[in-house]
Amino acid sequence: MLSKKIETALNEQIAKEAYASNHYLAMASWCEKEGLRHSAAFHYTQSEEETQHMRKLLHYVNAAGGHGLVSEVKEPPNDFKSIFEIFELALEHEIKVTKSINSLVDLCLKEKDYSTFNFLQWYVSEQHEEEKLFNSILDLTRITGTDPRGVFFFDSEISKLRAEEANEK
Ligand code: FEO
Repeated sequence: MLSKKIETALNEQIAKEAYASNHYLAMASWCEKEGLRHSAAFHYTQSEEETQHMRKLLHYVNAAGGHGLVSEVKEPPNDFKSIFEIFELALEHEIKVTKSINSLVDLCLKEKDYSTFNFLQWYVSEQHEEEKLFNSILDLTRITGTDPRGVFFFDSEISKLRAEEANEK
């Protein structure tokens, strides 16, 4: 059984995952309209993954005797200066999510909720992978450069990175 404190904190995380999903959706849409099809596909997939993160939390809260809540999602940024800015923002956002997950884990220990602590370990690993992925993508921007040819090369490399990530899992 969840304590009210943990239930509230998990519901806050549900809202954050919903925002993350929309954040990536806006990035995907911008990439799509710019003709950056691999980056668009990458962010559409990211958006779907964030929706899954949100649902996983909803299921957990409901299964643990609480009520998983769906709340209003604020509008994410829709305009970006470049594909590179998008990936920088994505990493920044993932770092924020990692901090949020870590705070939740801390709260579980404080409240002696070992079941939720255990459940959250999946998110701890996931955040490690997300940050690793975005750091490797930002490394790539330093190699390709940011001129139009670099952008083209960068976009085509994105599809390979996603495939490599799937192989490592
Ligand atoms: Fe579910 Fe990428 O945070």
